[in-house]
Amino acid sequence: MKVIHTITDLEELLQQHRQEGKTIGFVPTMGALHQGHITLVKRCVEENDICVVSIFVNPTQFNNREDLRLYPRTPEKDYELLESTGADIVFVPSEEEIYPAPDTRVFDFGLLDKVMEGAYRPGHFNGVAQVVSKLFAFVKPHKAYFGEKDFQQLAIVREMVKQQELPVEIIGVPIVREPSGLALSSRNQRLSEEQREHAAEIYRIMQESTLLAGEQSPDQIVRFVTGSVNNVPGLRVEYFGIVDGDSLQPVSSWQDSGNIVGAIAVYCGDVRLIDNIRYR
Ligand code: PAJ
Repeated sequence: MKVIHTITDLEELLQQHRQEGKTIGFVPTMGALHQGHITLVKRCVEENDICVVSIFVNPTQFNNREDLRLYPRTPEKDYELLESTGADIVFVPSEEEIYPAPDTRVFDFGLLDKVMEGAYRPGHFNGVAQVVSKLFAFVKPHKAYFGEKDFQQLAIVREMVKQQELPVEIIGVPIVREPSGLALSSRNQRLSEEQREHAAEIYRIMQESTLLAGEQSPDQIVRFVTGSVNNVPGLRVEYFGIVDGDSLQPVSSWQDSGNIVGAIAVYCGDVRLIDNIRYR
């Protein structure tokens, strides 16, 4: 496994592989890797000749300096995990390498980034699109892997690829959870044991709500989930929405779409967690 820090070295190496006719798979990450990330990397290793993983904590997608500062960084452990998973290339650029000048591009995703994460984290998805479009331009992958945990991010990346007609296949990978049901996240490292137990209630309650969806309307389910999660000590719901899985716009009836997802953001202490579940 090669650890590479510059775009020039990355492009040179990948150019050789491309000339040999090898397929290139790509997993962009911000490091502090866990089994959620590793599941993406495994798929990438299986389905491509060359698996490239990037580790870059992208400043333009953080709207809170403190969150950026506190974001966990565990490079040595990440390299070990990636090596044992069979990744071929790890791209670890500096901030200057990615942003030699400020990126002033403004993307238009219509209504997709006006709801949920986009509404509560203004500019977040513009930052994600900036870095992902740059990384795609450097790596030029045949396939790129994104987790369904960041369900709105996956929709935004698909939209960006469509708008720019990029020759990359975007592959969504199901959410990886702890045995308790808590979705794996780099941010979980900041939770105490007790907070972890409380945070596990998020998925339990969402799962319970899928069983009620036969008798209750989406609005009633929104009230049930929001109320139940807020009743767990230390948890505070920022939003819970039941939306069409493609347009991401709220649905008022289960008949509105064949692809309906509930997406939630919850503060557990000062740690912000997101998760989602499929209703149909
Ligand atoms: P990061 O949070 O490091 O996540 C990298 C990838 O791992 C994302 O596609 C995310 O959805 C996926 N992932 C994280 N936890 C997961 C879980 N429990 N199950 C399945 N997949 C999971 O998302 C980002 O980084 C950044 O926004 C990035 C795309 C790298 C752009 O900076």
